[in-house]
Amino acid sequence: MRIEVITIFPDFFSSPLDCSILARARQSEALAVNIHNLRDYAADKHKVVDDYPYGGGAGMVMKPEPLILAVEDLLSRAGPDCPVILLTPQGQQFDQAKAEQLAKQEQFILICGHYEGVDERVRQTVVTEELSIGDYVLTGGEAAALVVIGAVARLLPGVLGNPASIDSESFASGLLEYPHYTRPAQWRGMAVPEVLLSGHHQKIHRWRRKQALRRTRERRPQLLKQLELTEEDKQLLAELDAEASQD
Ligand code: ADE
Repeated sequence: MRIEVITIFPDFFSSPLDCSILARARQSEALAVNIHNLRDYAADKHKVVDDYPYGGGAGMVMKPEPLILAVEDLLSRAGPDCPVILLTPQGQQFDQAKAEQLAKQEQFILICGHYEGVDERVRQTVVTEELSIGDYVLTGGEAAALVVIGAVARLLPGVLGNPASIDSESFASGLLEYPHYTRPAQWRGMAVPEVLLSGHHQKIHRWRRKQALRRTRERRPQLLKQLELTEEDKQLLAELDAEASQD
């Protein structure tokens, strides 16, 4: 997988890409992240990449030429159907399904937006999709690009030590995760639930599923509504209802 990032702050990426799982993924060649400085594509000697908005108003707008030249340059070296993604609060909400879809690509390009936005002609010519990481405004698209890179990288084959952890975690199953515990079994009077110490795998599975259902219903009821419930799920939810009515 190759991810090409177009940014006016290349240094933003140095430390995060050199830490932990992302560093390992890059060393293993499962992932290459190439950072491109947008200013290298600016024609003038001051390397200007922004300008005043036509029609007036606050803030600056990213100029079309450097961005379009940068994308065209990268596309000339990319395979067909390479997605060109603009990171912007106006984009489609990035989620686990989108991360899984991107993880199947051989390559994609991320454009980190800045200032008040990008000239609309960039969207009209080279951008194939727009992604937002949430309903808030960041100082620029770089932090959003790192979120996308991190979520995609850990789905690539060979990147995580234990691939089974991908299947059981939040969102992969459509549910939030059940609570986790490790040693010690007792800490300041708080005990690990007995069933987890029992070694009884079926009971442990059932307990975890029930906790995942409980958490999801409490915190993200919308997720639960989208899920196709099994007979066991229905039974577990009924048990939760019965327990709640006893309280
Ligand atoms: N740029 C600024 N805010 C953003 C957001 N929420 N998502 C993606 N890119 C952004």
